[in-house]
Amino acid sequence: MILVVGGAGYIGSHFVEELVKYKDVIVLDNLSTGFRRLVNDKAVFIEGELGDPHLLRSIFTTYRIAAVVHFAAASLVGESVADPQKYYLNNVGATLNLLQAMLENQVKHIVFSSTAATYGTSNDGKITEMTAVRPINPYGRSKLVIEWILEDYHRSYGLNYIVLRYFNASGAHENGRIGEMHEPETHLIPIILQHLLGRMGSISVFGDDYPTRDGTCIRDYVHVTDLAKAHLASLEALLSGDVEKQIFNVGSGAGFSVREVIEICEWVAGRQAKVMMEEKRQGDPAYLVASNEKIKEWLGWSPTYKLPDIVRTAWKWHSRLADE
Ligand code: UFG
Repeated sequence: MILVVGGAGYIGSHFVEELVKYKDVIVLDNLSTGFRRLVNDKAVFIEGELGDPHLLRSIFTTYRIAAVVHFAAASLVGESVADPQKYYLNNVGATLNLLQAMLENQVKHIVFSSTAATYGTSNDGKITEMTAVRPINPYGRSKLVIEWILEDYHRSYGLNYIVLRYFNASGAHENGRIGEMHEPETHLIPIILQHLLGRMGSISVFGDDYPTRDGTCIRDYVHVTDLAKAHLASLEALLSGDVEKQIFNVGSGAGFSVREVIEICEWVAGRQAKVMMEEKRQGDPAYLVASNEKIKEWLGWSPTYKLPDIVRTAWKWHSRLADE
């Protein structure tokens, strides 16, 4: 069986939706940001805390777990600046428990969700896995600490891992059953689409004097099902023994500014947005765009969605939610 921690969250649930086609799956999630309804019915679902060593012991002794895929984390840049302790307790502390349970039960493979926020601010070029990691917010730092721990555990205990550094996950599953749900929502594309559906009077652009082509931040938006498939390929590479430890960027390789994202959303929805300029949000890097050459070469993964199609799937999902 494969244990998916955080499998009721946005990215985790899209991965589970794909994984249940191939493997038996157990999802552990405390539903702090995830939703039970997002978890595919074919998976065993356990509601509980990653930080609870007794629960972990019982899971690892009850089920024969071949590998762990670990999505569970707090993941908001702005919130991490306001409350770093939450990030270190949740993201670092709880993950140490998980790794301990894995070692005690001879489970040797983990796919770990990391982030482009480990890089910090880049100088306008595409980010490769060789780019220096200099995170500028506690969220990015909390993920980088785990990357370092994995490297040490690999060397000393033979734990094999693939770290996936995600760029901006976005879009929704084509099947219309699952998609992005955050309470409250802070991410750009869902906020724009919810506004275009009439849920908010306006949207805010956080800063327009960044050193970018139109002054707004540039991000690399990657479809959540493409991201899920990068995890499938990673799991296969670990279980087959092809890879013992690697770090891969998972991004589309294309950058869009906040203004450009708004225009594409307006085009997909056929509606005009009301846009307000606001102060910069703390901890936001100006430019984060992936080089995805390494994961293409090693795992044969490529993104299949471009931004207009990403927004189309998100628009379908948010329109459906608005009708519920
Ligand atoms: N933004 C706005 N207005 C909004 C919301 C966002 O202008 O109402 C801007 C942000 O300032 C940022 C861009 O839109 O420049 C994207 O913001 P998101 O909040 O959608 O995403 P982030 O880039 O901050 O972070 C996301 C994930 C992180 C991950 C990161 C990797 O939340 O977990 O992508 O690039 F680390």
